[in-house]
Amino acid sequence: MDYYDEIAPRYNSFRKEEQLEKARFVKGLINPKPKDKILDVGCGTGLSMSLFQCDIVGVDNSEQMLKHNPYRTKRADAEDLPFPDYSFDYVISITAAQNFSNVEAAVKEIHRVVKKVAVITILSKSKKLNLLKDSLNRNFSSVKEYKLRIDSAFYCIK
Ligand SMILES: C[S@@+](CC[C@H](N)C(=O)[O-])C[C@H]1O[C@@H](n2cnc3c(N)ncnc32)[C@H](O)[C@@H]1O
Repeated sequence: MDYYDEIAPRYNSFRKEEQLEKARFVKGLINPKPKDKILDVGCGTGLSMSLFQCDIVGVDNSEQMLKHNPYRTKRADAEDLPFPDYSFDYVISITAAQNFSNVEAAVKEIHRVVKKVAVITILSKSKKLNLLKDSLNRNFSSVKEYKLRIDSAFYCIK
């Protein structure tokens, strides 16, 4: 059982407010319309999904986190997204990238399935921060970085 499978039953009790604060910031950046299609990569228990009144689907590779997620989800790896090219108006990913085993593969997948904009956050203290930043700059036409309280957020235009 991996780390997130193990902590899944307790995740919301210790992360809810922190993750909702990040999700509010991400929502404010993209300001989606109700008809927009959104993918949440590494959606976990769905804390971020709870804020979006859109056509939203989440993917996560932890079966247990998904068991605690009341929204529409699929079990999948960020590195191998089970969707056709250009499927989503927006892709969001909140505090999951530091866990991706292959950051470049995940960024390429996010770029492939998005039509317009992806917003990806990562723990600022993560050793993968620069790897993610470089990969986003290689794959997206424009990348803007924001420093949040705990995460760094990247607003990426395809
Ligand atoms: C810190 S939690 C964040 C969950 C959610 N985004 C939130 O804001 O509460 C990180 C999540 O990323 C998922 N994750 C880690 N690596 C992944 C991967 N390669 N593909 C899909 N999900 C992954 C974990 O299972 C976990 O649910």
